[in-house]
Amino acid sequence: MANDTKIRKTPEMEEYEQETGKLAIWKGKVSKNFKKWQQKKQKEELKKQKIELLTASREEKRQIKKDLREGKEVGKDYEHLIVVENLHKTYLLGTTAVAALRGVDLKIDKGDFIDIMGPSGSGKTTLLNLIGGLDTPTRGKIFLEGRNISMLNDNDLAEIRKERIGFVFQFYNLLPQMTALENVMVPLHFSGKLSKRGKRKKALDLLRLVGLEERGHHTPSELSGGEQQRVAIARAFSNDPALIILDEPTGDLDSKTGVMILNLLRDLNRRGATFVAVSHDAAVSEFATRVFHMRDGKLTHEGKIDGLKETESMELSRKQEAEINKEKAKNMIFKYLFMNQGKVEFKIDEIKSSIPNSILLNLPEHFDDVLRELINDNNLNAHIEGNLLLFF
Ligand SMILES: Nc1ncnc2c1ncn2[C@@H]1O[C@H](COP(=O)(O)OP(=O)(O)OP(=O)(O)O)[C@@H](O)[C@H]1O
Ligand SMILES: [Mg+2]
Repeated sequence: MANDTKIRKTPEMEEYEQETGKLAIWKGKVSKNFKKWQQKKQKEELKKQKIELLTASREEKRQIKKDLREGKEVGKDYEHLIVVENLHKTYLLGTTAVAALRGVDLKIDKGDFIDIMGPSGSGKTTLLNLIGGLDTPTRGKIFLEGRNISMLNDNDLAEIRKERIGFVFQFYNLLPQMTALENVMVPLHFSGKLSKRGKRKKALDLLRLVGLEERGHHTPSELSGGEQQRVAIARAFSNDPALIILDEPTGDLDSKTGVMILNLLRDLNRRGATFVAVSHDAAVSEFATRVFHMRDGKLTHEGKIDGLKETESMELSRKQEAEINKEKAKNMIFKYLFMNQGKVEFKIDEIKSSIPNSILLNLPEHFDDVLRELINDNNLNAHIEGNLLLFF
């Protein structure tokens, strides 16, 4: 036979055959079309890497080169737990396309407690589902611990969810016929790492963590809403996830119970857990360390960064500072008017511009009221009309 030195088929050739439906080896030779396809693919890969390198900082470039040498996928940033880049998701409803996400960028670090707020339909659940590997994006990338999970198939995503992510939903989603303890043990069965006794012990420890060690043998219908949510939180922790995502975790609870759950989450967060929550409930944002606002499929801005609910003493010092600012503002206004003596008409904005923003943004009252007070204090022959201060 002429062709007894057979060419072995490589995985790349198999990919080619699957993708194009053509044979990579034809009459004992590597097909020309395969070679062309291979070159094109290599070029595309190089181009992709070049783009990554061009947009990366020096530190990131070093990391990318190192990753390439080690055969890892190119990721721009391994410092963050999650990096979301230009994420788009479009759903098809019959023939209508619904753009649920329209270019979301977000970085999540270990130890963050993120709250994403936004009106109904703004894309919060869609974003959470993509971060949690429950769905894949139409465009854009999601890196989880440096690994690009946006292109993974269903099996690999299921693996990621099992190993790295915990979920808490609005309606607890506990299995009704199982006890609290058994519910917490469910994910442990799937991971198969522990013995039966080990699983039981771990589940009991987790119930203790959420203050329910006495309720292990109760079924969900014998527990209050808040208790059920605590079981769901314990269950979310059972596979030692890198991140727990929470979709409206207080949505089904009265406000007092909601605050109890939030206190628990804050406590767990301070002990190192990473949370990403979405909510309508403004209370959630008071317990989070970072708050984002979402509108029409985009993150609009990041709110506060301190993450601490204002304590009474913090509130007191903020109010005292505002009173001091008011006195400073009055002095500055007076000085400004004095320097412009003889002028009978001032735009209020023009007066404002003589005062630093740090003072303007923290006044106890509206600026116009401060101005009015100054007029009265000094018996000035002036009054406010619309956006003008007029002297007679
Ligand atoms: N599976 C789907 N098929 C088609 N459209 C969808 C699907 N899921 C969500 N959408 C649409 O995508 C947009 C965003 O939905 P999403 O559920 O992410 O919003 P949300 O901010 O979580 O809202 P809510 O606060 O009401 O839970 C909405 O317009 C919604 O109708
Ligand atoms: Mg939702």
